[in-house]
Amino acid sequence: AATARYEAESSPSVCTGTIDSDWAGYSGSGFCNGTNAAGAHAQFTVNTPAAGTATLRVRFANGTTTARPAGLVVNGSTVQTPSFEGTGAWSTWVTKTLTVSLNAGSNTVRLNPTTAAGLPNIDYLEV
Ligand code: GCU
Repeated sequence: AATARYEAESSPSVCTGTIDSDWAGYSGSGFCNGTNAAGAHAQFTVNTPAAGTATLRVRFANGTTTARPAGLVVNGSTVQTPSFEGTGAWSTWVTKTLTVSLNAGSNTVRLNPTTAAGLPNIDYLEV
């Protein structure tokens, strides 16, 4: 199936923080700058035609030198806890590829940070 891009700043995506546009290189009109707190999440609503294994691509920037791990919560279940490592600069965006199982139809995909640093800046999710 064609890749669908879900922008962090576009409804029905949720950003527990602010939608910012002060670091260049983002897609769309901005990115999610999550509050620096555990649990301050970004959430995407993903539609898939059929149940099965899906490749998620999360575009993010982390201008610190400390990874910002986050639970990958699919339809309410934490399925893995990827590390969102430093990317060198807040304007350096990279894509992390994650593999999950999705249901047919609507799914929620939440990035739920596990430390007080919160999330990296999140640009979009592609499926
Ligand atoms: C800086 C940066 C933000 C980033 C924040 C953070 O303030 O400008 O874009 O979100 O650091 O540490 O999360």
